[in-house]
Amino acid sequence: MTEVKKLFVKTYGCQMNVYDSERMAEALGASGYVTTDVVEDADMVLLNTCHIREKASEKLYSDLGRLRALKVAKPGMKVGVAGCVAQAEGAEILRRSPVVDLVVGPQAYHRLPQMVEAGGRLVDTDFPVEDKFSQLPERKSLRGPTAFLTAQEGCDKFCAFCVVPYTRGAEVSRPVARLLDEARGLVAQGVREITLLGQNVNAYHGAGPGGTWGLARLLRALAQIDGLARLRYTTSHPNDMEDDLIAAHGDLPQLMPYLHLPVQSGSDRILKAMNRKHSAESYLRLIERIRAARPDILLSSDFIVGFPGETDADHQATLDLIRAVGFGAAFSFKYSARPGTPAAEKSPVPAEIADARLQDLQALITAQQRAMQDAMVGREVQVLYEKPGRREGQMVGKSDHLHAVHVQHPEGRVGQLMRVRITGSSTNSLAAEPVSGPL
Ligand code: SAH
Ligand code: SF4
Ligand code: F3S
Repeated sequence: MTEVKKLFVKTYGCQMNVYDSERMAEALGASGYVTTDVVEDADMVLLNTCHIREKASEKLYSDLGRLRALKVAKPGMKVGVAGCVAQAEGAEILRRSPVVDLVVGPQAYHRLPQMVEAGGRLVDTDFPVEDKFSQLPERKSLRGPTAFLTAQEGCDKFCAFCVVPYTRGAEVSRPVARLLDEARGLVAQGVREITLLGQNVNAYHGAGPGGTWGLARLLRALAQIDGLARLRYTTSHPNDMEDDLIAAHGDLPQLMPYLHLPVQSGSDRILKAMNRKHSAESYLRLIERIRAARPDILLSSDFIVGFPGETDADHQATLDLIRAVGFGAAFSFKYSARPGTPAAEKSPVPAEIADARLQDLQALITAQQRAMQDAMVGREVQVLYEKPGRREGQMVGKSDHLHAVHVQHPEGRVGQLMRVRITGSSTNSLAAEPVSGPL
């Protein structure tokens, strides 16, 4: 019987880090660690970091500063740094922060238990040849009826602003059979919705029966799993939206009508400088094709404002594109110069200008988002209940279009897929009441 030790995990950044954190906790679980939500109780603290913008990276060092006192009080406590800052900074983290014991990159975390066992201050930022997924224990953690599943990892696109190709490495797709197994295991534990993850998930090209499979074929195979009601995937690149994937949005009922398809800018000059390899026009044509296949699809995007060289005219072109598409959701960021990326060499747009543009853009997006949400009032939609709400008798879940919905339904259960009527719309969510009858 191994001694029970407590593990506290903090996750920064994207959904893939959420997935990775669960897998690291499972890997350490095999060495006797159980997770805790109370950092003071932890025998090991694991910070799974993000390097995408400067602010995200800085959070690591402010958290490490706070952990210092805790480690003085509890010298046996181990501190591990995982994720994209670990990959980017490696041993530098040990030099900068004496509280850190272990640094492990996103492709080496299956080796975490051995590192903990070995003791001492260690760094592993290799891209090992062995497949980390096949070294990890079988998945068992379960947070409810929805789950992430990493299908593809890494990026070969090298957008001029982005660290991901350096921190996650080259594009790799997991084999079809492994993904189907992992998905079946999740469904057997009660999962009803799976979101396939990848930095460029629609570039998926995994080894499958009869050759290489693309994402559309993988989604069609997943849709055959009994009990799996909903499929989503994120994040996609506009250049990898193949015809068969667009077609799947039209004829695969499990594939939800929501697509996160980052465009970044609406100015061709800036898109070129970003090395995005698509134009505003090609993006608009692509959206038309997607909407032809699935007219009610809700589109979402990422935007960067204040990329080096961005003029007012470029910014207006981005606003024009937003007006032309009509987004139901979006994330927007002020450009952050990242060490080692080509754009970091160029002179930045003054901060006040970038701030003003970000406000502009966010106001426009918020208005579009709100209008689309308000238009749902009176309509009947399906909601997958994820957890009880704060109010007595309330359930909370997501609609097909990924809107958060609060439903007054005292008999509702987590994991239930329910038909509801939308009765109200507020800033970030919808209110609804159950409607009887078959889905
Ligand atoms: N693979 C995805 C996104 C990965 S990062 C894609 O290609 O779209 C998520 C988002 O962070 C990006 O879409 C981009 O909008 C933003 N981002 C990436 N690098 C950034 C930087 N240096 N400064 C500001 N935002 C950045
Ligand atoms: Fe980064 Fe571009 Fe790759 Fe997305 S496609 S991860 S933005 S380099
Ligand atoms: Fe951040 Fe790495 Fe994800 S940089 S956004 S944690 S891929």
